[in-house]
Amino acid sequence: MPVAFPWCTSSSLSAMTKSGVIAIIFLSALLSLIRSCFSAQVYVVYMGSKKNSRNDGGLSQDHQILAAVHNGSIEEAQASLVYSYNKCFRGFAAKLTEDQALKMAEMPGIISVFRNLKRTLHTTHSWDFMGLNFNDSMETSGFSMKNQENVIIGFIDTGIWPESPSFSDERMPPVPSRWRGVCQGGESFSNYSCNKKVIGARYYIGGYEAEQEMVEEPLNFVKSENFRSPRDSSGHGSHTASIAAGHYVHDVNYNGLAAGRARGGAPMARIAVYKACWESGCYDADLLAAFDDAIKDGVDIISVSLGPESPQGDYFNDAISIGSFHAVSNGIVVVSSTGNAGTRGSATNLAPWMFTVAASSTDRDFVSYVRLGNGVSLKGVSLNTDQMNGSVPTILASEANAGYFTPYQSSFCLDSSLNETKIRGKVVVCWHSGSSSESRFAKSLVVKEAGGVGMILIDNRGDDVAVPFIIPAATIGREAGNIVLSYVNRTRGPMSLILPAKTVLGTRPSPRVAAFSSRGPNSLNPEILKPDIMAPGLNILAAWSPAAKKLKFNIVSGTSMACPHVTGLVALIKAVHPDWSPAAIRSAVMTTATVLNKNRRAITEDPNGKKANPFDYGSGFPVPERILNPGLVYDAHSSDYKDFLCSIGYDNNSLQQITGDNSSCTQATSPASNLNYPSISVPNLKSSISIRRTLTNVGKASSIYQAVVHPPMGISVTVIPKYVAFSSYGQKINFTVNLRVTAPSNDYVFGSLSWKSADARVNSPLVVRVVTPGTGLI
Ligand SMILES: *[C@@H]1O[C@H](CO)[C@@H](O)[C@H](O)[C@H]1NC(C)=O
Ligand SMILES: *[C@@H]1O[C@H](CO)[C@@H](O)[C@H](O)[C@H]1NC(C)=O
Ligand SMILES: *[C@@H]1O[C@H](CO)[C@@H](O)[C@H](O)[C@H]1NC(C)=O
Ligand SMILES: *[C@@H]1O[C@H](CO)[C@@H](O)[C@H](O)[C@H]1NC(C)=O
Ligand SMILES: *[C@@H]1O[C@H](CO)[C@@H](O)[C@H](O)[C@H]1NC(C)=O
Ligand SMILES: *[C@@H]1O[C@H](CO)[C@@H](O)[C@H](O)[C@H]1NC(C)=O
Ligand SMILES: *[C@@H]1O[C@H](CO)[C@@H](O)[C@H](O)[C@H]1NC(C)=O
Ligand SMILES: *[C@@H]1O[C@H](CO)[C@@H](O)[C@H](O)[C@H]1NC(C)=O
Ligand SMILES: *[C@@H]1O[C@H](CO)[C@@H](O)[C@H](O)[C@H]1NC(C)=O
Repeated sequence: MPVAFPWCTSSSLSAMTKSGVIAIIFLSALLSLIRSCFSAQVYVVYMGSKKNSRNDGGLSQDHQILAAVHNGSIEEAQASLVYSYNKCFRGFAAKLTEDQALKMAEMPGIISVFRNLKRTLHTTHSWDFMGLNFNDSMETSGFSMKNQENVIIGFIDTGIWPESPSFSDERMPPVPSRWRGVCQGGESFSNYSCNKKVIGARYYIGGYEAEQEMVEEPLNFVKSENFRSPRDSSGHGSHTASIAAGHYVHDVNYNGLAAGRARGGAPMARIAVYKACWESGCYDADLLAAFDDAIKDGVDIISVSLGPESPQGDYFNDAISIGSFHAVSNGIVVVSSTGNAGTRGSATNLAPWMFTVAASSTDRDFVSYVRLGNGVSLKGVSLNTDQMNGSVPTILASEANAGYFTPYQSSFCLDSSLNETKIRGKVVVCWHSGSSSESRFAKSLVVKEAGGVGMILIDNRGDDVAVPFIIPAATIGREAGNIVLSYVNRTRGPMSLILPAKTVLGTRPSPRVAAFSSRGPNSLNPEILKPDIMAPGLNILAAWSPAAKKLKFNIVSGTSMACPHVTGLVALIKAVHPDWSPAAIRSAVMTTATVLNKNRRAITEDPNGKKANPFDYGSGFPVPERILNPGLVYDAHSSDYKDFLCSIGYDNNSLQQITGDNSSCTQATSPASNLNYPSISVPNLKSSISIRRTLTNVGKASSIYQAVVHPPMGISVTVIPKYVAFSSYGQKINFTVNLRVTAPSNDYVFGSLSWKSADARVNSPLVVRVVTPGTGLI
């Protein structure tokens, strides 16, 4: 099996050596790279399912395996161990040299050995969180609260602020007796900090600390915002948990902007907290430990608003894919965010056993107008509600560069890059590159500290992310930016005024695909369409951690926020249909989704307004009223995922270790497109292909469905049989979809397949790319 050593290839070393010639400042980076390649690092050693008899020896077995690469020394083996995973799957994390890791990868019973990589939270602008209280309503009305209190959602995230009103346990009945979790005490968190809403909390820091030790920069836990406990220091974990399952909160508001009640999607569901994410991110070793506990504790759903860098590596070299494989094998639904890279093919969390969510806008905008001295008014976005006294002189940041900064560098309003004499009392025009590591909020601080009174921020990506700037400021897109530039450039004494932000409802068709939301196709296995679904992730209000900023609620953007919206929907289904499999629940959300916006036109994407497609939103935008009664589902179980792994080249030996049973790849391997998935993707259609699917009746016992096809351009699609008749609940019927090329095109084309009855419509996107062999002839 593959071993991942992303930093230790000879090419990365030689590349570093060349750049090392340029300047001494690269020396420390070079040293740390060399250190990382020749001294110990943390690796995760994955050994598959717990059920496999070869692998259930636990801690002492881990020591023995480790001793084998430590010249037989059990003491050294013990010292090198970071975690032992043995509750629901087998493996461990340990400090190893590259040699030792390679040796270990050769040993029998080891599926994969991979570096303890850092995964990142999927918020767009993690430094832009600041100062707001809002009213909000995220209505999913029409759902009874019945049985919701029996649904337990595990959040693998930055922890929780249990005192937030969103996590009140008012009117919650006692904790379900099947719950096996704990409330782990620690810094500013006692084992009494949990309640009947937040029923469990644990934290995982071993993998993070081991990495910190290696770089010889010990963690500074003196900083109060770094609680060594399940307490949330960043706000992200409280935000995601309250979106999915926050209790009702009345009378939250801010400066008269948005107004409403705050509540989560499933307000009576239980929350279990697994804090595995720290200031700099979430390490694989900690994530796996969190999954191992969550599965054993008895959660029904796991929500993970974080992921690997794009492009994602192999499934079994990634803690989230491994952990969720075992979670789904245990009947737990795993919902995840697809990432915020925004570009084609950048989608992550690609495993077919995960439920992967893209981000959309809502119908609420936070609008702030920029009025130029020539009377032109431009629409921007902002959360700052301060009133400017009147128009003031306006200057381009690039013309106010200070000290050694070039005009280009200063144009981004970097720290200390602005000349105080030049910008005092003015509105400053700054640029944002669109990179998520660049803080828009920080730019407003830089302008303020240098004496500016306002900021116009030109953002090429135009993603409409609203930021609570510290001074009057508005983000505008490239087009409006050009108008500002030419006005300032051509006018003697240019002036401008930035008006306070206002909440505007329903001005633009929504939902729209958020500009930052990562797009398909699936870079690992394009036969599986990813992302699966889209939910609100732009400018979302929810609970916050007062430790991060002095506020109880905050507005944040990212697929991180989209993920728990779907988690909440999954909880609503789980409450009503506790016996449905993770795949059936996912199918119910996907096949009932819509690809139309609230104006009943095709959903478009930001910022260009083009018609969106399944690479942007998967099956579309959920329709909560329909998810409980999908009529039919595309179900799948462990054996289907095994067939999928066989089809992508796993051998009998690794398959048996991963699954812990006697599975083998017997049949002539069927293509990965045949996994019984609620969408159909054929990335390499030559002339024709038959795709198999199985429908399961979860609607009326006796019902008839007809296949309705919108074929992709240039593809002929026939469904056999065209009609299916069910006579009992749970009955399964197979069908095939035959695709044939009629007019080849070079790129992906999109269509749809629906099964229609009197009461239900079961929709699937059809995604096809024709590959023309050698000569270009079909
Ligand atoms: C194991 O022993 C060999 C030879 O005795 C030595 O070179 C090597 O450094 C030792 N390795 C460890 C991890 O102690
Ligand atoms: C909290 O921990 C203490 C000791 O650590 C233990 O005695 C007590 O039972 C625990 N309480 C709960 C609610 O778990
Ligand atoms: C917030 O919502 C509550 C309940 O809907 C409402 O009474 C209150 O006026 C709202 N606050 C603001 C500032 O709009
Ligand atoms: C507006 O004017 C008042 C009084 O002249 C002054 O105190 C305040 O700082 C001004 N505000 C801004 C944003 O310039
Ligand atoms: C700022 O600009 C003023 C006037 O143009 C100039 O005299 C001064 O040297 C500049 N300061 C810095 C730090 O660049
Ligand atoms: C301003 O205008 C001049 C001349 O038209 C042009 O060369 C320059 O690039 C412009 N600067 C900006 C920042 O647009
Ligand atoms: C796997 O097969 C072997 C013999 O073929 C049998 O002894 C064993 O019980 C089987 N294991 C499982 C988990 O079915
Ligand atoms: C896997 O095992 C099955 C049944 O034992 C066998 O028929 C098949 O050839 C094996 N496949 C490989 C790739 O070894
Ligand atoms: C449906 O297809 C599966 C294989 O995909 C097969 O095992 C099953 O027997 C088929 N069922 C019917 C009713 O044909």
